[in-house]
Amino acid sequence: MGLLGDDELDDSPVVANCSMNREREITGTNSYTRDLHFDVLGFLSQRLREGREVAWLDLCCGSGRALAQALERLRAEHGEPALRVDGLDLVDAFRPEVRRAGVGLHVGPIRGFEPTLRYDLVTCVHGLHYVGDKLRAVELACSWLAPDGVFRASLDLRNLRFEGGKPAGRAVAKALREQGVAYDSKRRLLSADGRVELALPFVFRGADDQAGPNSTGQPAVNSYYRNPASPTPSPSDTRSIRCGHPDLKQQRRSE
Ligand SMILES: C[S@@+](CC[C@H](N)C(=O)[O-])C[C@H]1O[C@@H](n2cnc3c(N)ncnc32)[C@H](O)[C@@H]1O
Repeated sequence: MGLLGDDELDDSPVVANCSMNREREITGTNSYTRDLHFDVLGFLSQRLREGREVAWLDLCCGSGRALAQALERLRAEHGEPALRVDGLDLVDAFRPEVRRAGVGLHVGPIRGFEPTLRYDLVTCVHGLHYVGDKLRAVELACSWLAPDGVFRASLDLRNLRFEGGKPAGRAVAKALREQGVAYDSKRRLLSADGRVELALPFVFRGADDQAGPNSTGQPAVNSYYRNPASPTPSPSDTRSIRCGHPDLKQQRRSE
């Protein structure tokens, strides 16, 4: 199996899939509140009531519909709230009204985002399914939190594999838990309360966009990592890596 690097994956038809659901709302049956099992509006509203400047970053925001709705609802409740809402997506499929509503929109991959502030809330609703180095994305998202910020993201651990194909989910969940990020396996949700500087021991080796549907029913991307318990790659492991594929994480660390 030839694995893809993050840059190659960005061009994959699975990731650029135009039939994926980019239209979740802030509340209701097809919503952030429902899928994150988290009351986004209630959380932001509470912080605004405390007289704070509040910021929310939504990664893989799709059309941005939920963000515009949240701003509208919070404006109705708080007047002109000291609230900043940023959305980021690989693809510019933003609804025109989202920009008009004042949402800060960013086009590009999570790994390229350079925030200029710390966020009270960072979310990623059904976006990590399509990311290559999912664990790096989680590390970045958690590092962008304010000290008392909150992180919530959907993740199907079955999309995490060790080289050679063995499931990595259990080892990843353990490492995340030990470093302050919880995983709810029933709801397939990551959560952190408070900023976390993760240093996970898993080195990204590449991604497979032919993994087929995951728990969402949509074709998703499997992400492959070197198993830290077996530091020397076995011959079968090395065969699974496309010739010349760079060790992306080592490369990043040396930059
Ligand atoms: C299933 S949609 C979810 C959109 C939105 N969160 C919602 O629930 O309506 C997944 C989104 O992830 C985006 N995406 C995929 N890979 C990405 C990456 N590496 N960085 C940023 N966005 C990405 C896709 O373009 C797509 O809009």
